[in-house]
Amino acid sequence: MNNAVDPTTPVIALHGLTKRYGIGDAEHTVLDGVDLTIKKGEFIAIMGPSGCGKTTLLNILGLLDRSNGGDYKLNGKSVDSLSSAAHARIRSDQVGFVFQNFNLVPRLNVIENVALPLTYRGVRKTKRLQAASKMLATFHLSEREYYMPWQLSGGQTQRVAIARALVNDPSIVLADEPTGNLDSRSSHVIMEELSDIHKRGNTIIMVTHNPSLTTYASRVITMLDGRIDTDTKDPRAPINQIDTTKRRLDSHSEPTKTEEKAKKVSKKSTKTKSKSTRKGTKK
Ligand SMILES: Nc1ncnc2c1ncn2[C@@H]1O[C@H](COP(=O)(O)OP(=O)(O)OP(=O)(O)O)[C@@H](O)[C@H]1O
Ligand SMILES: [Mg+2]
Repeated sequence: MNNAVDPTTPVIALHGLTKRYGIGDAEHTVLDGVDLTIKKGEFIAIMGPSGCGKTTLLNILGLLDRSNGGDYKLNGKSVDSLSSAAHARIRSDQVGFVFQNFNLVPRLNVIENVALPLTYRGVRKTKRLQAASKMLATFHLSEREYYMPWQLSGGQTQRVAIARALVNDPSIVLADEPTGNLDSRSSHVIMEELSDIHKRGNTIIMVTHNPSLTTYASRVITMLDGRIDTDTKDPRAPINQIDTTKRRLDSHSEPTKTEEKAKKVSKKSTKTKSKSTRKGTKK
């Protein structure tokens, strides 16, 4: 059987997707006919006010929840009528979740938690632990491999959860406010990691409340009342909003084009300022 997916087929195609909660008078519509097409390799940031349906949408995209209506095609195939077991298989093969409050398994230590998704894939123990260890090193957590989850700080717990989500090199990464609980340094470590995964050709869909993080995205979608409100490809962040000191932690990496541009603009404005200051002090 040929399982190859035509590269032009969208990774995700939603048509008129609806989700309602409650029954009778208490019924409310949370997703109200969402149409959305996502191509392989896009990095999408989803924004919108609290309660507009971002997490609900992400849960449906990740096959953790089901819609009430409309059509969801994943890699060209409708997934609405598949069994829960089939959904679980797709999740384990293709999807990585990075959720803000992703609980680690309390009785497993850090390295075992990170290796867990590889167990479901049947990878042998030594290989699993090697891969987990490598991933933990990326997040500067090598010294915590044998800690138990309760011995970690909030930021460390989240980094472990993210390492676990990424260990099976998923082709689709769904991230719900992945940096919501983190300080800006840790946030940018995680954003750089997501960027690297994106550069390797994977698709990333990230919910965020932080507008500065949308600079990592190739497309920004805003939601309002269960619908897509705006959809902007190749967003150009206002340069003055980018904090170039926080963006990169790896001092060896080259600055990005946006950073170069931001630096030039700030140099220019410093020059103009000092010119006008000189003018002002001229007798
Ligand atoms: N299991 C549920 N049962 C009933 N209502 C729910 C359920 N899950 C979510 N909702 C409702 O659906 C709406 C959208 O919730 P959702 O979590 O998707 O919002 P959100 O955009 O992610 O918000 P936030 O930015 O605060 O995380 C909310 O009004 C919420 O109360
Ligand atoms: Mg949410």
